[in-house]
Amino acid sequence: MVEAVPKLVIDGLTKRFGPMEALTRIDTRVEIGEFISIVGPSGCGKTTFLRIVSGLEEATTGEIRLDDAPVTKPGSDRGFVFQQDNLLPWLTVIDNAMIGPKIGGFATHERRAATKALLKLVGLEGFGNHYPRQLSGGMRQRVNLARALAIDPEILLMDEPFSALDAQTREIMQTELLRIWEEGRKTVLFVTHQIDEAVFLSDRVFVFARRPGRLQEIITIDLPRPRPLSVKRTPAFVALVDRIWSLIEHDVRASVMEEMA
Ligand SMILES: Nc1ncnc2c1ncn2[C@@H]1O[C@H](COP(=O)(O)OP(=O)(O)OP(=O)(O)O)[C@@H](O)[C@H]1O
Ligand SMILES: [Mg+2]
Repeated sequence: MVEAVPKLVIDGLTKRFGPMEALTRIDTRVEIGEFISIVGPSGCGKTTFLRIVSGLEEATTGEIRLDDAPVTKPGSDRGFVFQQDNLLPWLTVIDNAMIGPKIGGFATHERRAATKALLKLVGLEGFGNHYPRQLSGGMRQRVNLARALAIDPEILLMDEPFSALDAQTREIMQTELLRIWEEGRKTVLFVTHQIDEAVFLSDRVFVFARRPGRLQEIITIDLPRPRPLSVKRTPAFVALVDRIWSLIEHDVRASVMEEMA
């Protein structure tokens, strides 16, 4: 049997900012269609890791391979959803969602039709001609998600995409994201500070540690899918959250104390 090539291969990744080692010797693999979350204390290098995979930032040493090709610069095989709302206020929802194809020079009629279908997929049918100021925070993040999907990426990189949302909207967005993921089965790297969010969404959780930033442990989430929100109240779910929290508690306390000092 021929083994499938992993979607993403990280070999010996190190990142230094001057003398500071932000990430040290990360080796890992992500399989096609996997949902991976990354958790860890502030400053452990989660964003840096995502930026390197996206090609926005260069690794100091090591190699990143996506579909067996080295990552050296940003490309339309990677879609990025940021924490902050970075929609352009003077463009409509559909035009915001079409930015990727426009920049890439492939904003065809077919692509526009596909993007309209994406707006429906993310629950924004009928809002294509609205402007960002007419939308709630949750709806804006849906546009950001549609925008990242509009380039039909191989991998979706999401950096705390729901952290600016209120608790209820956030839970809705988690279930919506899972629904969308089940339909398209993109490979996802999802950074979050909320451990329950990571457990709810993921096949595996990468637990990062700091000083230096590194991949400390990988926790497999063997909860059956599809997952209703009520899974969060099951003993198996709570045990996974507790286990991950116990791995990062010490580092999180240390980073909070530093921020207060
Ligand atoms: N461009 C840069 N120049 C210098 N240092 C940087 C740069 N980007 C990040 N760092 C440092 O690298 C470390 C990791 O930062 P990063 O933003 O990746 O952490 P993070 O895990 O995403 O944190 P948070 O949870 O607060 O978002 C930090 O110490 C940060 O100050
Ligand atoms: Mg970050």
